Amino acid sequence: MSHPGTTPARFTLDAAFGVGPVAPRLYGSFVEHMGRCVYTGLYEPGHPSADAAGLRQDVLDLVRELGVTTVRYPGGNFVSGYRWEDSVGPREERPVRLDLAWRSTETNEFGLGEFMDFCAKADTEPMMAVNLGTRGVAEAAQLLEYCNHPGGTELSDRRAAHGAKEPYGIKMWCLGNEMDGPWQIGHKTAEEYGRLAVETARAMRMIDPGLELVACGSSGSGIATFAAWEATVLEAAYDEVDYVSLHAYYEETDGDRDSFLASAVDMEHFIESVVATCDHVRARLKAKKRINLSFDEWNVWYIRRSEAATPPDWDQAPRLLEDNYSVTDAVVFGSMLIALLRHADRVTSASLAQLVNVIAPIMTEPGGPAWRQTTFFPFAQASRYGRGRVLRVEVDSPTYPTARFGEVPLLHATAVIDDETGDVTVFAVNRSQTDVLPLEIDLRGVDAHTLAEHLVLADENPEATNTADRPDRVVPHAAIGTSVTGGVLCADLEPMSWNMVRLSRPQN
Ligand code: AHR
Repeated sequence: MSHPGTTPARFTLDAAFGVGPVAPRLYGSFVEHMGRCVYTGLYEPGHPSADAAGLRQDVLDLVRELGVTTVRYPGGNFVSGYRWEDSVGPREERPVRLDLAWRSTETNEFGLGEFMDFCAKADTEPMMAVNLGTRGVAEAAQLLEYCNHPGGTELSDRRAAHGAKEPYGIKMWCLGNEMDGPWQIGHKTAEEYGRLAVETARAMRMIDPGLELVACGSSGSGIATFAAWEATVLEAAYDEVDYVSLHAYYEETDGDRDSFLASAVDMEHFIESVVATCDHVRARLKAKKRINLSFDEWNVWYIRRSEAATPPDWDQAPRLLEDNYSVTDAVVFGSMLIALLRHADRVTSASLAQLVNVIAPIMTEPGGPAWRQTTFFPFAQASRYGRGRVLRVEVDSPTYPTARFGEVPLLHATAVIDDETGDVTVFAVNRSQTDVLPLEIDLRGVDAHTLAEHLVLADENPEATNTADRPDRVVPHAAIGTSVTGGVLCADLEPMSWNMVRLSRPQN
């Protein structure tokens, strides 16, 4: 396993060279009414741990531990058929509806008020999406009035009558979901969507000028309309929106693990292409403001397996997209987090899709336990320690050949400095399936020269997962042999590993 003669990967840290501050919203997630994300996921009245509102405390504890800062809701594809009025008011009066997006039955037992209660208890910011598939400007404005207007109108008083006297004050709103995708209910051309997005945004800002609005970008960089879609939508809506969205999911295909491990190469290229498109439109419009990026769906997702599965037959809370993540998946997932951080100057919002059961870091069984998937750990570590300012990391690394991306550096890394304490946290992935990667970090430009900890997620069995029966099969462990000598950190990164190295200022 170890290769003493292997060329080390190297980089230098200097506090003078920063990328940008880490926006707290980078550590957001996503709750969609689909599968068991809501029902028997975060909400299960009658579960031994449920509170009076039906929220599972075991799940809430894990959500807090995960460190989720925002939660996008209620979809996803679901939002394009969403009638928000169905989800408020007395539960016994709420209608049961067909959810066309996921061929499921939606009882509306859990709705907007319950979601806001969940956000308050999870100490997270809500990020609401409006339906621009089957609905439009009027319904978006009405939902906003219901949520954010203080009172004295039918809709705001309706909210108060439903138990929420104070306005919800939801600041961040998505203008629809994946409207470029032919699978989307109410799918639109870029021209149609751009026009609808700008008119919806204008009406919403008339009610609440302080909103932060996200226009739908492409549902993936592989779609034929990618980049042209963003340009057309932004030409129409530039002045009225603050963000454009990106969605990306990766999976191992055809046994090509080397390419899978390099997925973040594609993700970084995607981010840089959207930044270029936004700035191109900015130049054409002679606009002052910049559009930032909301990477509001990202994850490892075995889409081919999902597509091959039998679709639900209008079941309630069917088991959908319950991917069981391996150590390999967690390493790729960690690399995606690194990609987001490396672009923290423009990616100022992101949502891990999703939060519970559906391609999620947290799994549950109805009436049973809740547990952490392998992907839970990189997210929780980054959310806790990846706060501050991202430093520019220029990696000098040995490479390896991949079928999809050519020669790719074995090391993928980023570093975050806390400017108040001077502490530095490095996140690093070794993409090699077989070899230890020696790492040398020259710390000449930072004061943090004391090693606080080096935690690793790796396993002799890269297929290892956590399950209800063995919830702690995979957990991070302390690295052996990491040291700082003469201002240089030396570590051996295990094959296919996610690493967090924390450095602090020496105490006088
Ligand atoms: O996260 C699962 C689905 O993936 C979402 O509903 C949709 O927006 C995307 O295609």
